[in-house]
Amino acid sequence: GDNELSSRLMVNSTDKNLRKGVPAFLRHTVKGWQLNSSLVIMIRKDILRFLDAERDVSVVKSSLKPGDIIHYVLERRRTLNVSRTLHSLLPDVSPMKNRRFKTCAVVGNSGILLNSGCGREIDDHDFVIRCNLAPQAEFAEDVGLRSDFTTMNPSVIQRAFGGLKNETDQERFVLRLTALNESVLWIPAFMVKGGERHVERVNDLILRNKLRVRTAYPSLRLVHAVRGYWLTNKINIKRPSTGLLMYTLATRFCDEIHLYGFWPFPKDSSGNPVKYHYYDTLKYRYFSNASPHRMPLEFKTLRVLHSRGALKLTTSKCS
Ligand code: CTP
Repeated sequence: GDNELSSRLMVNSTDKNLRKGVPAFLRHTVKGWQLNSSLVIMIRKDILRFLDAERDVSVVKSSLKPGDIIHYVLERRRTLNVSRTLHSLLPDVSPMKNRRFKTCAVVGNSGILLNSGCGREIDDHDFVIRCNLAPQAEFAEDVGLRSDFTTMNPSVIQRAFGGLKNETDQERFVLRLTALNESVLWIPAFMVKGGERHVERVNDLILRNKLRVRTAYPSLRLVHAVRGYWLTNKINIKRPSTGLLMYTLATRFCDEIHLYGFWPFPKDSSGNPVKYHYYDTLKYRYFSNASPHRMPLEFKTLRVLHSRGALKLTTSKCS
């Protein structure tokens, strides 16, 4: 089945030994988590066979010119015209070229972060990756303030910034990006049609306000490559979530990867309700086939990797 990890990773979610003793969802709280460096290296090597994270993290300027037509990655029949603005914001070289870190945090957006007190621990990592421009200042104690790499699905512009239609929303957005300072701002602009007007507005605002964020736009092959890697481990994920994409990319740059804010379930391990996002009221149908993602399956996989020391998953309070 697709919810098993292959023997290549030496992990198997149906492994009896893994299940013994501790309830599955509490396994990560077992004391004495230890990094398994040889497994980390093996995973990095395996992923490298599918994607070159340094390159695939962004299209570069020299690979496109204004007026080029791009086929959307997940909707091949629909196309996008590369505008001058978009082209001018493509990086000259990969923003991740030659960057290596001892420890990285990948921060998901689950409500499990609320009251975690994990802010300081997260900020202590050498490189912090965050998803979808999630608010930080108001939640600093639980999520931290630092972001070196920030993703932004175009849909966020509609959902959280009113489509940038009026000046108030634009100002709020510019302030948000200003707070990101020189973070990489990673915009999946070539995935699906629908967000191109938003991306164009974002790009305009960045140029007009001379913001220092370093824009990046994932390559056309990234999602297929990531999907391909996980498929070899018998994990069939049609649309990897941003969080899983970030973990997969980070394996190239980071020796030790810590995940926070990954908990795609409506209740915590004691049965208390957990918000889908720590910062808004969005509801998510975790187990519906209608949703594009399979976060619970992803989570199960990540949990197994945690138990093997490939990554560290934190879903409880930080001390
Ligand atoms: N996440 C999680 N549990 C949640 C919410 C989010 O594990 N309850 C993780 C997922 O890996 C997700 C990431 O945190 O991709 C960022 O969350 P979010 O911004 O909500 O992503 P979505 O918009 O839901 O999904 P995507 O950006 O991947 O389309």
